[in-house]
Amino acid sequence: MFLIETIKGLKNKLNELKETGTTGFVPTMGALHDGHISLVRQAVSENKTVVVSIFVNPTQFNDPKDLERYPRNLNADLGLLEKTGCQIVFAPTPEEIYPGPDTRRFNFGALETIMEGKHRPGHFNGVAQIVSKFFDIVQPGKAYFGLKDFQQLAIIKEMVSQLKLPVEIVPCPIVREKNGLAMSSRNELLSAEERINAAVISKTLFEANKPFEQKSVRELAEWISETINKNPYLTVEYVEIVDNRQLQPVKSWDDEGEKVCCVAVFCGKVRLIDNVVLTKKTK
Ligand code: PAF
Repeated sequence: MFLIETIKGLKNKLNELKETGTTGFVPTMGALHDGHISLVRQAVSENKTVVVSIFVNPTQFNDPKDLERYPRNLNADLGLLEKTGCQIVFAPTPEEIYPGPDTRRFNFGALETIMEGKHRPGHFNGVAQIVSKFFDIVQPGKAYFGLKDFQQLAIIKEMVSQLKLPVEIVPCPIVREKNGLAMSSRNELLSAEERINAAVISKTLFEANKPFEQKSVRELAEWISETINKNPYLTVEYVEIVDNRQLQPVKSWDDEGEKVCCVAVFCGKVRLIDNVVLTKKTK
């Protein structure tokens, strides 16, 4: 496994391996967990060469304290990646990626005006800046993203379509801890007690997904919010039930398309997101 820190070094290595346009790519911000590792393993099973990037992207953090607190552990990450069979780890410095400010502004319309886009202004612009830069450098044939960041996935697909990039976006399932908590690098910031209580988020989502049509859309969202807020460790930021294509709020169960319930919840100071596809029909 090669650890490369410069754009030039990475391009040279990919040329040497004759891997332009066919590489599998997994972008990450490090602090890797089994969710990331499942993406890397899928990429390794589907591509001859796999590049994993580890880069805590400053332009996608709207809160400087959040950027400072974000967990970083390159040595542990390299140890985990070594076992997956991935060939290249790209871990550049911020100066390498942003020698000057990135002034590009993307427009994702209604896709970015709710949920994460609404509560973290500028976040998706930063995500699009870094992912488009990485796509330009790595020239992947396939790139892998986790479904936990459901809105991010929709934004990346839209970006690829707007920029007409020849890359297939591969969505990968959410990986959960034994207690149901969606795996996230931010879980590392939770105390042992918070980690136990944070499982109420997914438990509530799974419970909501039982015979959900007995309640109206609004009643179900309110029930989720109240149930999570009853736990003294948790504070809901939003609960949204949206369609899985345009990510617009669903008004009635009769609205077209698959419905996804997305939540953002603070557990102490740590902001967690999760989602579940509403699947059980009672009609
Ligand atoms: O999902 C993440 O970890 C980040 O948003 C990504 C896609 C690596 C871009 O920095």
